[in-house]
Amino acid sequence: MLDKFDQLIKKAKNFSVSSPNDIEKFRLTFLVKKGLLNQLIQEFKSLPNDQKKEIGKVLNITKQTIEEIYDLNSKRIINNNNLLSQKNDLPGYYSETGSRHLISSVVDEMTSIFERLGFSVSIGPEIEDDWHNFSALNFPKNHPARDMQDTFFVDQQIALRTHTSSVQVRLMESGKLPIRSIMPGRVYRNEAISSRSNCFFHQVEGLYIDKGVSFSDLKQTLYNFVKEFFGPETKVRFRASYFPFTEPSAEMDIFLGTETESDYKLTKGTGWLEILGCGMVDPNVLKNCNIDKKYSGFAFGLGVDRIAMLKYGVKDLRTFFNNDKRFLTQFDSI
Ligand code: PHE
Repeated sequence: MLDKFDQLIKKAKNFSVSSPNDIEKFRLTFLVKKGLLNQLIQEFKSLPNDQKKEIGKVLNITKQTIEEIYDLNSKRIINNNNLLSQKNDLPGYYSETGSRHLISSVVDEMTSIFERLGFSVSIGPEIEDDWHNFSALNFPKNHPARDMQDTFFVDQQIALRTHTSSVQVRLMESGKLPIRSIMPGRVYRNEAISSRSNCFFHQVEGLYIDKGVSFSDLKQTLYNFVKEFFGPETKVRFRASYFPFTEPSAEMDIFLGTETESDYKLTKGTGWLEILGCGMVDPNVLKNCNIDKKYSGFAFGLGVDRIAMLKYGVKDLRTFFNNDKRFLTQFDSI
């Protein structure tokens, strides 16, 4: 009899269980009324009473062991099955693709317009020396723009560039003439951060140097740009202005009107909004860059962030760089 218990345990241990079906087979083989365990129990019942005490103990252990084997097998299969079904239920790995930032798209859009007008693209360092950012551009030594208020200085001679005009200096110094290029890039100014200004922003500046370049070339280039970028009906005006590196200097405004509240606010009630600075390159700058007097040229500088706000109705400059996907993905298709 004891041998039979042993064999039953062996049989239960070796019973291969690899699916929920097998668990059921196990139960039917060992644990139901007509199963093997019960057959032994019946045999046990017919034993003479004096043997029952000792063999009864072994029978109990055998019964527990077989039930444990059944439990362990069931748990294993259920766990496996859960994992499998979880895998099947997963919605599939969805990885979002990135998209172009609105500022990059606007730079691209501006670049392609200027490229069609014959301009190439030049870039330069964001950390600049005093010469390229200021001195070569005819900023007098005590000019307020060099003041700590506007510029992030690294040390007395080095600063984060405050405009991409520094790239113009690098181009002019290279001595390769004529020059017809734009300089897109990020610039830094130590300004209070608000919905309308940030301590860094983006510019597309431009430089055209050749023999006989005049102010009317400048105007025509910028008219072309504005009509392409803002639409053929856009009204513009030039106002006299001042920059140390251009003479004469001007600012260009576009007409938004005052009909909507935001246009009224943006234009301070005048209907006109300034979008760029420009002018004829000052002879001092040409001299600083060793450019022969035979040459003349114009330069201009546009603020990309401001133009993007205007074109795409963005109310707060800071939203460009908060990295809030809800904001950024709105411009996926641009
Ligand atoms: N560098 C000027 C600025 O950052 C813009 C500008 C460029 C003005 C070229 C005139 C000519 O404000």
